[in-house]
Formats: sequence, C-alpha cells, structure tokens
Amino acid sequence: MQTEFDMTGKIALVSGASSGFGAFFSQILSECGCKVVMGARRIDRLHQLEEEIKSKGGCATAVALDVTDSKSVQNAFDFAENLYGTVNVVSNNAGVADTKSAYKIDEAGWDRVIDTNLKGVWLVAMEAGKRMMAAGVSGSIVNSGSILGIRVALFNSSYCASKAGVIHLTKSLALEWAHKNIRVNALCPGYFPTEMTSGYFDTAEGQEYIKTMPARRIGRLEELRVPFLLLASDAGSYINGAALPVDGAHSLGNMY
Ligand SMILES: NC(=O)c1ccc[n+]([C@@H]2O[C@H](COP(=O)([O-])OP(=O)(O)OC[C@H]3O[C@@H](n4cnc5c(N)ncnc54)[C@H](OP(=O)(O)O)[C@@H]3O)[C@@H](O)[C@H]2O)c1
Repeated sequence: MQTEFDMTGKIALVSGASSGFGAFFSQILSECGCKVVMGARRIDRLHQLEEEIKSKGGCATAVALDVTDSKSVQNAFDFAENLYGTVNVVSNNAGVADTKSAYKIDEAGWDRVIDTNLKGVWLVAMEAGKRMMAAGVSGSIVNSGSILGIRVALFNSSYCASKAGVIHLTKSLALEWAHKNIRVNALCPGYFPTEMTSGYFDTAEGQEYIKTMPARRIGRLEELRVPFLLLASDAGSYINGAALPVDGAHSLGNMY
C-alpha cells in the first residue's frame, strides 16, 4: 500500500494475533509492507492466518508466544530476529478479561489478568526496546490499552486496573526512550466485536447497553485501521506517549 502509511521493509511483531484485533493488525501491517511475526498460544489459528496473508501476497510467520512467560517472549523475538532482523514495530496486544463483581475475583483470576495485560505488555515492550537500542534502530510500540484504562466501568476491576497500568507504562517508556527514537503509544479502543466481547453484545442485555452508548453502536474493526497505523507507522513520527481513545465518545460519558 503506497500511502503515508507505507511500512515497506519494517519488521513487526504482533502479540495476541490469533484472533480479534491482533489478527486484524497483522493483516494491515502486512498490507502496508511489513514482514510480520504473529504470536499467540493457539498456534493452529496463527498458521491459518499465515496462509491467508501469504495468499494475498503478504509476508507473515507464526510463532508460539505466551506473553506471561519471559522465556517465551525472548524466544519469539529471537525467532523474528533470525528470520527477518530486528523487530522495529510492535503491536503489544495480547489481553484477557475477567468480567465479574470485584468480590468474586479470586487470586488466580487477578493474576491471570494482570500477568497477561500488564506484565505481558511490560515483558514484550522491554524485549523490543532493548533489542532496538542494541541494534541502534528506531521503532514504534503500540500497546493495546482500552477506554477502561482511562475511566472505570462496573464488573471489570482487574481489567480496568491492568489497562490503567498499561497507559502509565506507555507514558513512562515513551519518556525514557524518546531520545532513542523509540515511540511508545497506547491505542485505547472502546467496544468492538471480537471474541472478548461478542458473547455479551449478542445478548439482549448487550443490545440494550449499546442503545445507551453515545454513538448508539459499537465500533467496526475497520475503524481502528487508521488510528493504529498512525501510531505504528512513521506517519505519527512525533506522537509519543499518547493514549488515543477510538470509541465514538464512549469514554466521555454514560459508561456503566
Ligand atoms: N474488543 C474490545 O472491545 C476491546 C476494547 C479495548 C481493548 N481491547 C484489548 O484489545 C486486545 C485484543 O483483544 P481482542 O478484543 O482482540 O480479544 P480476543 O479476540 O479475545 O484476542 C485476545 C488475544 O490475546 C491472546 N492472548 C491471551 N493471552 C495470551 C498470552 N498469555 N500470551 C499470548 N497471547 C495471549 C489470545 O490468543 P491465544 O489465546 O491464542 O493466546 C488472542 O489472540 C486486548 O488487549 C484487549 O484487552 C479490546
């Protein structure tokens, strides 16, 4: 794709690429010319996506990745580096939710959400940043935040805490790494149809909830394309440490 989002020659790693946003981001990065390494635990899903992207002329490869495990993160970066070179675009996107009343969240559930959404984002960002600095290359890291990191909603306390942490981690790393030409931003989507959410939005309760949203609808994946590419590509070369809501004004009011 020859536009201001041209990313020919860049090497991207996407975590949580086996479904939802990560699969979408992998596709659009490959359309923009990146060589894409796609990580997640469900490797069969990644192999299917790899075939799809290759059939459209893109360049993508699957790798098994558990973002909660530092060794697995290192292995994925070693794999990408051996195959293509230093990763200079990261979609730090793996995430899970645990939607229930705060008093029903147990220690294992808390750890799963925080380890995946916050520690996992930290492990991937640190691995990427260290390698970019060692290789002397510039780069962009796009963390998947959420509007629930900007303000809270009921029954998502561990998730909201993890995403608020992602936003502050994003800003901290941007501040420390700006002089190395490494940008770190957080994309903060409102509600979009993925495996994480569609169970709820398919219900009558979910449909009623949509009627209360400012835009009276959830987002379309396609509406994340430009915001994501703005942060990931050199088109956004002076955007650093931002937490960008893409939410049809949802974070401005009436969340419950
Ligand atoms: N959908 C929304 O409305 C929405 C809104 C705001 C923010 N987000 C955020 O966007 C990101 C993507 O979510 P989604 O909506 O696309 O949901 P999704 O379809 O459920 O995708 C989540 C992805 O994370 C991966 N993942 C989970 N645990 C992992 C681990 N330990 N290691 C590696 N990968 C792991 C999953 O792959 P495996 O299970 O194969 O490992 C899957 O590919 C998440 O960070 C989510 O919090 C979503």
